[in-house]
Amino acid sequence: MTAATALAHPNIAFIKYWGDKDPVLRIPANGSLSMNLDNLYSLTKVSFDPELVWDELFIDGQVAGDTAHQRVSHFLDHVRKLSGIASKARVESENNFPTGVGVASSASAFAALSLAASRAAGLDLDERSLSRLARRGSGSACRSVPAGFVEWQPGEDDERSYAKSIAPADHWQLYDCIAIISQEHKETGSQEGHRLADSSLLQRTRVEDAPRRLGLCREAILKRDFEAFADIVEFDSNLMHAVMMTSQPQLFYWLPATIAVMQAVSEWRKSGTAVCFTIDAGPNVHIITLEENSPGVIADLMHIPGVKKVLVSRPGAGVRLVNG
Ligand code: PMV
Repeated sequence: MTAATALAHPNIAFIKYWGDKDPVLRIPANGSLSMNLDNLYSLTKVSFDPELVWDELFIDGQVAGDTAHQRVSHFLDHVRKLSGIASKARVESENNFPTGVGVASSASAFAALSLAASRAAGLDLDERSLSRLARRGSGSACRSVPAGFVEWQPGEDDERSYAKSIAPADHWQLYDCIAIISQEHKETGSQEGHRLADSSLLQRTRVEDAPRRLGLCREAILKRDFEAFADIVEFDSNLMHAVMMTSQPQLFYWLPATIAVMQAVSEWRKSGTAVCFTIDAGPNVHIITLEENSPGVIADLMHIPGVKKVLVSRPGAGVRLVNG
């Protein structure tokens, strides 16, 4: 039996990935840019065991449901193909945060699985190959492989579609304060959402304009220019949600408290606080701010009706092996 354990952080996209050019290989319609979240993680152990007759998957100590099992088993088939190993595997994964609520658990889960599974199978992949492998499990997982602030260049094929770091985690002390509004599992996951993207007539414009938004966001991060950063991050999030809302069938992820938080953040920003919002495929709101503003922002968020708790993260490291 061979085993390895890896830890990876989820990431929050500042320029979002929505829609695929190739849904099987997960080649995205547009490039995206994100930050790893240091306080949240998935910890995943993979053991290839010749005694097993099928792959086993445990998430947070529970036997996983059929959909998750199939997705992981399919992913492991790819690792088996790359490494020439035939054994089935036992996968034990834990998250220290709620899954399926717009905090991208699939990103950290598949980034950790990529490193743990490839090592346990005897492969020693470099960062680019690991990012490409993680991308096959969940697109945004390729961005949880490198450290800090990360850009996924869309590429046209498997070889050229991977993520790399544009700045290390200590480049800029941004705080992500995640206002948890609902912990219920979302009805339509991102896999299905990506398939619907092209049914919105706004998607084409969103995709065509992506290089411009990426350029603005990259430059704002490199210069630590919060005003420019906030403008493009909110715009990009609104644009993705406009595509979701105008897809057929429509996707609508917000709850009343989601809008209340967005409005409060706009007010705080107008009155001079460095703060902005961004929302993934769920009702929770990521509020990005600077270190010095974070205690006040967290306290004010907790006063908004419907905000159940606030999870706080700074820029995080890339995927890594741990003892376990
Ligand atoms: O990697 P997926 O298939 O879970 O898609 C992620 C989609 C968003 O979180 C909404 C945006 C992003 O770029 O992370």
